[in-house]
Amino acid sequence: MEKCGVFAGFHLPNPTYQLLGPSRTAIMLLPPPFFTEKRPLFPLPLQLQKQSHFGLCNCSNGSGNTLRVASPTSNVATELADIDWDNLGFGFIATDYMYIMKCSQGENFSKGELQRFGNIELSPSSAILNYGQGLFEGLKAYRKHDGNILLFRPEENGLRLQMGAERMCMPSPTVEQFVETVKVTVLANERWIPPPGKGSLYIRPLLMGSGAVLGLAPAPEYTFLIYVLPVGNYFKEGLAPINLIVETEMHRATPGGTGGVKAIGNYAAVLKAQSAAKAKGFSDVLYLDSVHKRYLEEVSSCNVFLVKGNVISTPAIKGTILPGITRKSIIDVALSQGFQVEERSVTVDELLDADEVFCTGTAVVVSPVGSITYQGKRVSYGVDGVSQQLYSALTSLQMGLTEDKMDWIVELK
Ligand code: COI
Repeated sequence: MEKCGVFAGFHLPNPTYQLLGPSRTAIMLLPPPFFTEKRPLFPLPLQLQKQSHFGLCNCSNGSGNTLRVASPTSNVATELADIDWDNLGFGFIATDYMYIMKCSQGENFSKGELQRFGNIELSPSSAILNYGQGLFEGLKAYRKHDGNILLFRPEENGLRLQMGAERMCMPSPTVEQFVETVKVTVLANERWIPPPGKGSLYIRPLLMGSGAVLGLAPAPEYTFLIYVLPVGNYFKEGLAPINLIVETEMHRATPGGTGGVKAIGNYAAVLKAQSAAKAKGFSDVLYLDSVHKRYLEEVSSCNVFLVKGNVISTPAIKGTILPGITRKSIIDVALSQGFQVEERSVTVDELLDADEVFCTGTAVVVSPVGSITYQGKRVSYGVDGVSQQLYSALTSLQMGLTEDKMDWIVELK
């Protein structure tokens, strides 16, 4: 697949084209193979301007001053959105554009468009609202000091969405469509990508049964939607260690269920245990398997790892655990650093004996666990060793600070 960005039927080579400010007009976008056309296929409702080279970086703080950063799509510095870049958390912020593509049951996604970000219309009888026929994804874009914009393994999210769609009886965009539409949405919202070191642009693709049903059945129509927003740290603790409680009654997933895909309902199912844990002062919940109530599964929004000496262990992917892309990447990074990595059943008793525990996920990145409470007993862990080392290795790669020997980074030049 080509690495250059594609926008509204144009190639975005370097020199590239820039969207000049938000427009209320919908921007028509053509799917691959039309994305690779070098000429516009119809008059564009967008103001596009050819620009030549990078601008200068001048990012200070988010205190109301105009911030400018280098842009690969501009010969002048890109003006950033006027928000407090120094205090980004993980919360909703409305940005400029979202991407929407629809298709009927039995058909393939073929044509979508960028629209101004806003509320969407859904039938009260839609399959997503009534029966939860829906999936989501999560990935991030980073702004590099030279103005380039980096995506981390977006094709992995496209593949995972396809696997989930198969489980949920939905059509799915191809991996190529997924990656291209992510690129288009990120570039359209470029002013919302945090300056280097201040956070990332979180990309949230949704796939849902948007058509109306009443009897339980797959929807007659599907919507693929991508929105984006700038984020900082996921946990309110920031980069400080989190404190988990092991849940012994409620379960996140059951064998044969949808725990292994990113079904929207998986996340509603953990809210009760998570709220109770937070009310008691814990950061989040660690779930056990629903059959033996003995083996570790995952935390509400992320995978879990234990460290003992040179061995790093994590629950194997066996249907109830989400195949995290950060999980998979951390395994490879750890192996490349000489750790032994075991994907297997990990008992809750092993927690008591671990040197370190940490969580991985797109949102949480690599979060050290400071303590785990199980059946009233609290165990504390070291936090400055392995998880810190892996966090640095992964984030340096994601932000373009180290050489991408794994070929994981997609540059939006
Ligand atoms: C992510 O890490 O991207 C997720 O999808 C988890 C979500 C609960 C924030």
